[in-house]
Amino acid sequence: MSKENQLFLVGEDNQLSKSIIELMNTSYEVIYIEEDSWSTDLRKYEPTIVIVYQGESESPVGLIKDIQAEFSNVLTIYVHSEENFDLLRDVTRAGAEDFIILPDEGGAFKERVAHLMEDRFSFSETAATGVHKRGNGQIFSFYSGKGGSGKTLLSTTFAQTLKFESTAQVIHIDFNFQYGGAETYLGIETTRSLIDLQPVINELNEHHIKNISETEPFSKLEVLISPRDAEMGEKIDQDFVIRLLRACKRHYDFIVLDLPSSMDLTTYTALEESDRIYYIMTLDTPAIRVLKHVEELINRLGAQTSEKLELLVNLAGRDNELTKKDLDRFIDRPITAEIRRDIKGVQAAINQGQPLRKEIKEKRLPAPAKDIQKWVASMLK
Ligand SMILES: Nc1ncnc2c1ncn2[C@@H]1O[C@H](COP(=O)(O)OP(=O)(O)OP(=O)(O)O)[C@@H](O)[C@H]1O
Ligand SMILES: [Mg+2]
Repeated sequence: MSKENQLFLVGEDNQLSKSIIELMNTSYEVIYIEEDSWSTDLRKYEPTIVIVYQGESESPVGLIKDIQAEFSNVLTIYVHSEENFDLLRDVTRAGAEDFIILPDEGGAFKERVAHLMEDRFSFSETAATGVHKRGNGQIFSFYSGKGGSGKTLLSTTFAQTLKFESTAQVIHIDFNFQYGGAETYLGIETTRSLIDLQPVINELNEHHIKNISETEPFSKLEVLISPRDAEMGEKIDQDFVIRLLRACKRHYDFIVLDLPSSMDLTTYTALEESDRIYYIMTLDTPAIRVLKHVEELINRLGAQTSEKLELLVNLAGRDNELTKKDLDRFIDRPITAEIRRDIKGVQAAINQGQPLRKEIKEKRLPAPAKDIQKWVASMLK
């Protein structure tokens, strides 16, 4: 049988392994590998998908990490008997592609395996041609505890700029589920929104995302628009966020998040999943006070999240209350970039319903767009 038809099961011989084998062996050659000797036994094959499942040992995280470390091209799926958000988070963080609940999701399980196989084999074709490397996208979040500090303007312009300045696959996601905002800055009108992914969230793949996303016409940046509806926004939970971000990491190089100032579970989750958090700071004392508050909350998420936070100074200009030097004195965080204020330039674009960036080489860019261009260029180097 070909590799595309082999599934590997690593763990102890228990009820769950029996059900998995029974479920999958009509479509796949299921090869059971004992947990104690997996490292040598798996080597005899060229595994594509390895299934790890609930057993006696307390946490599967170590095993998943070890398998990922030894077989960098393998996709792991974890199977559990019940919903468990903390475990879902831990195993996805350890590198698992998917978290399946059996027997509840028995029906969807096969479909998800088929999708992953398809993904992996189309991936190796593109990898072989050297066109594009996928599978490990980076998440950049734009956040501030203070409303109106420029999260939406800067995140959209940053995402556009990444797209203009590289050949990377970039997607912008608006996490302001109630009110939205990004669509206005990007000049996009649509009735589609990321809530349309809800029915397929458990088997989310590139095609689903591309069907729902909009393309910003100038930069060809892909964007997932907010539902802009309180009731619908409430349907989006941590599980949705993790699955969406995981799928985006598989298919995009850069995922740019515009987060709301309010701290709820979805914002927390997004911050935890981020590779970098750009905290937008204005040069005034209230902004420092809010940041101190946010730092307390973020520290509760653990050192790992806190370390990812960098400052992005916005609305810099002549009449700021504080200087960058003052910030350095009060806050022990690196300042990644400084974005100037340009009320006229920004207003002109927004009034025309157009984004700040329109082409790769533009002579008369508003100051914030210029500063972001400089920053992104040095980042991509
Ligand atoms: N560097 C800048 N120069 C000029 N105007 C700016 C700049 N940054 C932000 N603005 C303006 O400030 C206002 C707030 O910006 P924006 O909507 O991006 O903030 P936000 O943090 O997303 O707000 P909210 O918390 O409401 O989502 C907008 O009118 C925007 O055009
Ligand atoms: Mg906003």
